[in-house]
Amino acid sequence: MEPIIVCKNIHKYFGEGSTRVNALSGVNLTVNRKETRLLMGPSGSGKTTLLSIIAGILTQDSGECLLSGTDINHLPDQEKTDYRGIHIGFVFQIFNLIPTLTCMENVAIPLLIQKVPLKEALERARIVLNDVGIPDKADSFPNKLSGGQQQRVAIARAIIHAPELIVCDEPTSFLDHNTGIKVMTLLKDLVAKKDLTLIVVTHDPRIIPFADKIDQLEDGKIVS
Ligand SMILES: Nc1ncnc2c1ncn2[C@@H]1O[C@H](COP(=O)(O)OP(=O)(O)OP(=O)(O)O)[C@@H](O)[C@H]1O
Ligand SMILES: [Mg+2]
Repeated sequence: MEPIIVCKNIHKYFGEGSTRVNALSGVNLTVNRKETRLLMGPSGSGKTTLLSIIAGILTQDSGECLLSGTDINHLPDQEKTDYRGIHIGFVFQIFNLIPTLTCMENVAIPLLIQKVPLKEALERARIVLNDVGIPDKADSFPNKLSGGQQQRVAIARAIIHAPELIVCDEPTSFLDHNTGIKVMTLLKDLVAKKDLTLIVVTHDPRIIPFADKIDQLEDGKIVS
């Protein structure tokens, strides 16, 4: 199987001197293409830090992290932003939708960043909102939607530009049991249909059945 992510001996610390925290202490991780991988572990174990390095949001202090063979954290800033915008989709705990834009406009954002013309971007957003099961919400504003519906909009926004990797940080933690399962089922279906790779950081045991493999972090290390 072909790896999409290869992390070798990643170290990351925050702060200096007596306040220094070793968030990651020598993490090795390989994720294969089309896999659904869970990162689990106690609060403060380094899950979000690792996901952020994989997704090019944070830069490691040492070690190497390759996405499809590219070391994105050592690209010049603009190239890194562009690379991230093309290759990765993000889903967070808080849905991060822009309240003054309609759902369709929110979903279109990654395409607009890539300079796709507005009309085409909105047409494609409508199609993706259909894929995530809420075609009737295209013209609604996010605050008129339930939490589960807002997370569907966020997922639509994460996949609209056909990225190869979707990273999710606690995607179900603000959702009730059934909604959380529905959102994960949707993500998993999309991943299969579009040949995506999914990395999910979670505390949520409901997500375990969706994983191909689970890595457990403790104190900045993968322990199993
Ligand atoms: N920006 C930052 N500045 C200082 N310390 C940080 C920062 N981000 C993370 N840390 C520290 O690094 C360690 C790992 O944090 P991280 O957020 O990766 O953990 P986590 O496993 O995602 O936790 P949680 O489950 O609570 O989200 C923690 O000790 C945290 O306090
Ligand atoms: Mg976290």
